[in-house]
Order: sequence, then structure tokens, then C-alpha cells
Amino acid sequence: MVLSECGRAPMTPQCGGSHVSSFPNEDLPRNRSVSLPAFGIVVLLIMLLPPLSILLGLAACCSSLDNGLLRTPPMGWLPWERFRCNTNCKADPGNCISENLIKSMADKMAEDGWKELGYEYVNLDDCWSAKERDSQGRLQPDPDRFPSGIKALADYVHSKGLKFGIYSDMGNYTCSGYPGTTLDTIDTDAKTFAEWEVDMLKLDGCYSNSSVKAIGYPKMSIALNKTGRPIAYSCSWPAYEGGLPPKVNYTVLGEICNLWRNFGDIQDSWESVVNIIEWYGNNQDKLQPAAGPGRWNDPDMLIIGNFGLSYEQSKVQMALWAILAAPLFMSSDLRTISEDAKYILQNKLLIYINQDSLGIQGQRIIQSRHFEVWKRILFNGQFAVAVMNNGTDGMPRPFTTNFAQLGILDCKEGYKIYNVLERMFLGDFALDTTINIEVTPTGVVLLFLWPLCSVTYFTKPVLRTQALELQ
Ligand SMILES: *[C@@H]1O[C@H](CO)[C@@H](O)[C@H](O)[C@H]1NC(C)=O
Ligand SMILES: *[C@@H]1O[C@H](CO)[C@@H](O)[C@H](O)[C@H]1NC(C)=O
Ligand SMILES: *[C@@H]1O[C@H](CO)[C@@H](O)[C@H](O)[C@H]1NC(C)=O
Ligand SMILES: *[C@@H]1O[C@H](CO)[C@@H](O)[C@H](O)[C@H]1NC(C)=O
Ligand SMILES: *[C@@H]1O[C@H](CO)[C@@H](O)[C@H](O)[C@H]1NC(C)=O
Repeated sequence: MVLSECGRAPMTPQCGGSHVSSFPNEDLPRNRSVSLPAFGIVVLLIMLLPPLSILLGLAACCSSLDNGLLRTPPMGWLPWERFRCNTNCKADPGNCISENLIKSMADKMAEDGWKELGYEYVNLDDCWSAKERDSQGRLQPDPDRFPSGIKALADYVHSKGLKFGIYSDMGNYTCSGYPGTTLDTIDTDAKTFAEWEVDMLKLDGCYSNSSVKAIGYPKMSIALNKTGRPIAYSCSWPAYEGGLPPKVNYTVLGEICNLWRNFGDIQDSWESVVNIIEWYGNNQDKLQPAAGPGRWNDPDMLIIGNFGLSYEQSKVQMALWAILAAPLFMSSDLRTISEDAKYILQNKLLIYINQDSLGIQGQRIIQSRHFEVWKRILFNGQFAVAVMNNGTDGMPRPFTTNFAQLGILDCKEGYKIYNVLERMFLGDFALDTTINIEVTPTGVVLLFLWPLCSVTYFTKPVLRTQALELQ
């Protein structure tokens, strides 16, 4: 971590930088003719404290759960989408839900560059526990698949510099039929998780009704707080109530949970990804204001690297999850994941967009027959724009737009534009220029816009910054 007093070091003379940033010319293909901006060491500064949204009066709507956690969307790994409830370690020892699986993923997260990029949580999902609680009424792991116990597993994950998350269910059983957390076991379970040194809890919602959930989810939030251990709290509650007001009260949710699933489970298909994107777009007026630092809408796991998505479709999921300020939980086999998938998942500029410190969820701003345009407002006058072509006719389709249409007119000098997924600098664009791109069928172009202004957007001093160095 690099500490600096300046929110925008490369751009402001008092911080010793020049006006023009060379960001982000890493990995630009040499055989393409791209004109690079000026050279130099590139440091992007992400503000951490104080919460900018408060300083700037840009807060979405509400205060968030006061545990200090997840000021930017969490990043990590979850087993469910890829490994499901595979408990058959005799037939499938490499892929069953077991301490070995979690340890091997933690190894990969630490070894293959994931951790450095911010992917830090290695979590369990359903099917880790024994079918019965122990003699003292506590949850316990399946003894054959987790012979060392959960505390030892958490220790192992922590020893890799990573965080560890666990799963339970607010109801009589988990969705796969393991013991659930009932109203009378909430305190016991919170205490057990804290003793195991768990860093995140995903609380599912099978096998209970709405009134039990309405009591149980807030009660667990209090119980977690009482343990004294900061434990990020992921609530599946809204997904069980249709995900929308008035049945779901996002003011309440933001005060008790750090993130929440709003919608159904993702499956390994393009259709599933599109359904989720459409649902978030169609309901954005209700969902978008609910998100902010410490409180995130969760459109579910990243399926990139699995079987269902093409390369272009994988980019769509990643681009839209960045625009949506979504948690980035991979659910893939990190032992065998392809270089192509890694190239998408490890895109630094895309992660920079996802992790923007303002925490403002993006919105769909244009819909046409083939295209959807999504825009996210970022810190210090930057923007991200995703142009998605959901058509299937077999050729890249031209798309023309301009700054007025995108509603990006703040910086009169114009913007540097980067094609994030192709890792290409497209040039300096004056405000009156046309922007021409081509988008592949079921594909996306994600643009990052960097203002050419010398304007200091934010005058408040930055207390602490984290530098993201782009080589
Ligand atoms: C518990 O809640 C209090 C008050 O909201 C907060 O100050 C404290 O940091 C919380 N502790 C944990 C461990 O979440
Ligand atoms: C949960 O268990 C209670 C007590 O046995 C029972 O009354 C209730 O119907 C169960 N709820 C569900 C959703 O299975
Ligand atoms: C919900 O479940 C609880 C506990 O199982 C039960 O006491 C209550 O009557 C149920 N409420 C409704 C509205 O079904
Ligand atoms: C949501 O809950 C808050 C706090 O309990 C309450 O003030 C507010 O009126 C509720 N909003 C709706 C739409 O019910
Ligand atoms: C494609 O996007 C358009 C515009 O948002 C939408 O009306 C249409 O339903 C989408 N089609 C598919 C197949 O997703």
C-alpha cells in the first residue's frame, strides 16, 4: 500500500505528477497501432477514508451496517455454482466439498496473482456441515470431509494472507438439507463462527417463512456484532421475497447486511447471465439507490472459466458486474482455469472500476434493438460505459455515440478513452467528437473515460489512499 496525501497524484502538480497520465498502458498489444499518452510511472489512487460519498453528498440513500467492512465490493471465491453439493469424496476426491478443495483454492488464490488483485475471500457454501449438530447444539463440519475442523481450515486460509467465509441458512435446514440456523440457534452459531475466526457469513433462506426471516436476519446481524469479531454479512433474504420494495425494505437491509442476493441463483449459461442483467436493468430505479460503500446488491457468482459462456459472453458478465458495483466472487476451478478466463478476471482496470471508492452502482441509460448502454459514475470525474450487443447475428455491429448522448459533459477539455477489455488506449476525445465502436454478437465493449481537465473535482483533503500500480 502506498500512502499519499493526494487524491490524484499523477494529475496534480502539487503531488509531483504531470498533467497527463500514462495510465493504463500495461499489456497493450505491441502489434496494434495505438497512440499512447505520455509516459511515466502510473499510480492510480483509490481513496479509502473518509467515505467519499459522505464528503461529497453523493451517498446513495442510507447508512450502512456499522462494522467497517466492505467499503468496496468483496472479491473472492465461492464453491457453489461450480462445485454444488458434491459430497462424494470416494468417487470424486478432487472435486467434492472438503477441506482439500478449499485449501487447494486458497493455494491458487495466493500463488496465481488473484490475491494481489483483491480477490481475498475463500468461502464455503452449502454442504460443509455434518447432518447433525454436536452434543452441545453447535454446528459441526462433516468429519470425513473436514477432518481437521473449520478452525484449522480458517487458519490455513489466513496463513495464505486470505480471508475465510462460511455459509448457513436462516431456516430449519439449509437448501441442501443440512442443519439450518433457527431463531433459537442464532447466538450459538454466531459465537461458533467467531470462535472459528470466520470473516464472512452467507446466510441463505431455505426452509423458513417470511416472518421468521424478518426476525432472524436482523437478529443474526446483532449476534455477529456481539461476538466482537468483524464478520461481513451476506444476506440472501431479499432473493426469497422477490427482491423488490415494498416487500423488501432496502433501508433496513443496508443497516443490517453488507451485501445481499436480490435475485435467483446464477446457472452456467448465457441465458442466466442475460436474465440477471435484464432484471437489474428493469428494476434499477429501486435497486441502484440501495447500493453504496458497505452495502451491495449481489447479482451472484462469476461463472467465467466454466462451461456455459463463450469468450465474448464472459466479457459481458465481467463488464456488467463492474458497472453494477457487484461483489466479484469467482465460482470456477482455479486449478484448471484457462488463460483466456484469467485474462478477463485479472483485468486491473476493470477491477479498478468495480472497486471505485464512491460505490455508486451503474445504470442502464440506453436501450435499442440490439444494444444496451450502461454507465457508472466513478471517483473524480471518471466514468465507465459498457455497450452490450445482445444480438446473435454473426458479425460485429457498429455502434456510434457521443458525449451528449452518454450524458458525460462535465470536463470541457474532453476525455481519454480506454477500451478496458481489449486493454487499448483509444485516444483523446474532444467533447464534440463521435465515438465509433464495434461490438461482437453477445458481446460488450467496456470503455473507461479519464477526464482531460486540470479541474480538481474534490477539494477535501484525502486522509488515506491506496495506490493501484498499473505496471
Ligand atoms: C458493532 O456495532 C457498533 C455500533 O454500531 C460498532 O461501532 C462496532 O464496530 C460493531 N462491531 C462489530 C464487531 O461489528
Ligand atoms: C420449521 O420447523 C418448525 C418447528 O418444527 C415448523 O413449525 C415449521 O413449519 C418449519 N418450517 C418450515 C418452512 O419447514
Ligand atoms: C412461520 O413459521 C413460524 C415458525 O416455524 C411459525 O410459528 C409461524 O406461524 C409461521 N408464520 C406463517 C405466517 O406461516
Ligand atoms: C423501511 O424501514 C424503515 C425503518 O424501519 C422505515 O422507516 C421505512 O418506512 C420503511 N420503508 C418502507 C418503504 O416500508
Ligand atoms: C436485448 O436487449 C433489448 C434492449 O434492452 C431487449 O429488449 C431484449 O429483450 C434483449 N434481448 C435478449 C435476447 O436479451
